[in-house]
Amino acid sequence: MTSGDLFIRSVPEELKEWIKEESSSNNIKQNKFVISALQHFKESSGQLLLFNKGIVRQSKIDSNSFPFSFIDLFSGIGGFRYGLEKIGGNCVFSSEWDRFAQQTYEHWFGEKPHGDINDISPDDIPNHDVLAAGFPCQPFSIAGVSKKRSLGRADGFQCEKQGNLFFKICDIVEAKKPPVLILENVKNLKSHDKKRTWLVIENELQKLGYIVYHKIIDASSWVPQHRERIFIVCFSKDVFGNNPGFVYPELPNGKTPEFGDILEPKPDEKYTLTDHLWTYLQNYKKKHQAKGNGFGFGLMEDFSGVSRTISARYHKDGSEILISQGKKKNPRRLTIVEAARLMGYGDIVQARTDIPVSDTQAYRQFGNSVVPAVVTAVGNECIKVMKNKWIEQSGGCILKPQRRRRKKISVK
Ligand SMILES: C[S@@+](CC[C@H](N)C(=O)[O-])C[C@H]1O[C@@H](n2cnc3c(N)ncnc32)[C@H](O)[C@@H]1O
Repeated sequence: MTSGDLFIRSVPEELKEWIKEESSSNNIKQNKFVISALQHFKESSGQLLLFNKGIVRQSKIDSNSFPFSFIDLFSGIGGFRYGLEKIGGNCVFSSEWDRFAQQTYEHWFGEKPHGDINDISPDDIPNHDVLAAGFPCQPFSIAGVSKKRSLGRADGFQCEKQGNLFFKICDIVEAKKPPVLILENVKNLKSHDKKRTWLVIENELQKLGYIVYHKIIDASSWVPQHRERIFIVCFSKDVFGNNPGFVYPELPNGKTPEFGDILEPKPDEKYTLTDHLWTYLQNYKKKHQAKGNGFGFGLMEDFSGVSRTISARYHKDGSEILISQGKKKNPRRLTIVEAARLMGYGDIVQARTDIPVSDTQAYRQFGNSVVPAVVTAVGNECIKVMKNKWIEQSGGCILKPQRRRRKKISVK
């Protein structure tokens, strides 16, 4: 170890690795790098972001992580939090009003989210680098507007603004001006309400001064489940200019996820469908097939593939993902641990006891959640943009100390 090397016992290995790599690639001593990083973050947001308090269950931080702060809105069980902490994110605020989701979140992350976001003033939310939100999608209904008009009430956005949670996000963005926004929603957000919903969203975000990107990403490259969701990523023009240079992540290489990998060897018998329910589901499917539509259960027989999307209603009959148990036995549902693995929470949920709520609540929570690995992949591309900006902003001084040239003293 040279005299400039960092020697702090409590720094996690992954961070040490990052400090080592950054300082060596930029030819700067490690302690200088850490001090300048701390200084930079203290100045940029008024908060000390590096070496934040323990990440409760995060087993591993990716090596190309970058310290940044974020807020977790409509947090559910913390899919964004889990995905962003992996790459160096420090959650400074979270909000979720469902008490069961709050329970799971607190169990996993050691922090109970604040409740109804409508009761929170944007000014009370701490400054942050990234605003993350998987917000509920509500219609900007044309029908609603004309009804109100006929009743002589306010219409258009003025009226909708009061009830729509997207506008609550806009209020926070307006007050806090976070450099980056990562929003997630169902795939049909773009076609929702005759495309009006999307046009309003895009337009509002642009009006707030952001460059808006969007892409539908199928999580099936990360977990053995088709789960198409729209990821909207926005960069503040004030911070990143008109061309932030963001690109969506490439699909991961390597082994494609297989449904068989998430299955437990000895699932409890309670997950096997009763004769009554299995007969009902088969009859329902036949009825709809006869009408020429594909409604009905999805049965996993080939475990090398991927399943359908688990939804928030999975607890009702499990019909979208049933697991074949051979000809002699009725199919079964996913166990809670399997549902967790299917969403990519396998590192946190190793046993049923890792989930503090009932089966019904747990299925609902997983069905509502975002796949953390996709958040990590998208977040990784965001931090590349942030990192570049950081280096550029510092004029090369923070990461690359410029060699001082000796002033030529002109002798007259
Ligand atoms: C689509 S889910 C988001 C799930 C989350 N991304 C996750 O990984 O679990 C939307 C969440 O918003 C919450 N929600 C809805 N209205 C809310 C409000 N007014 N304040 C706080 N949370 C709210 C719901 O309870 C639900 O958990």
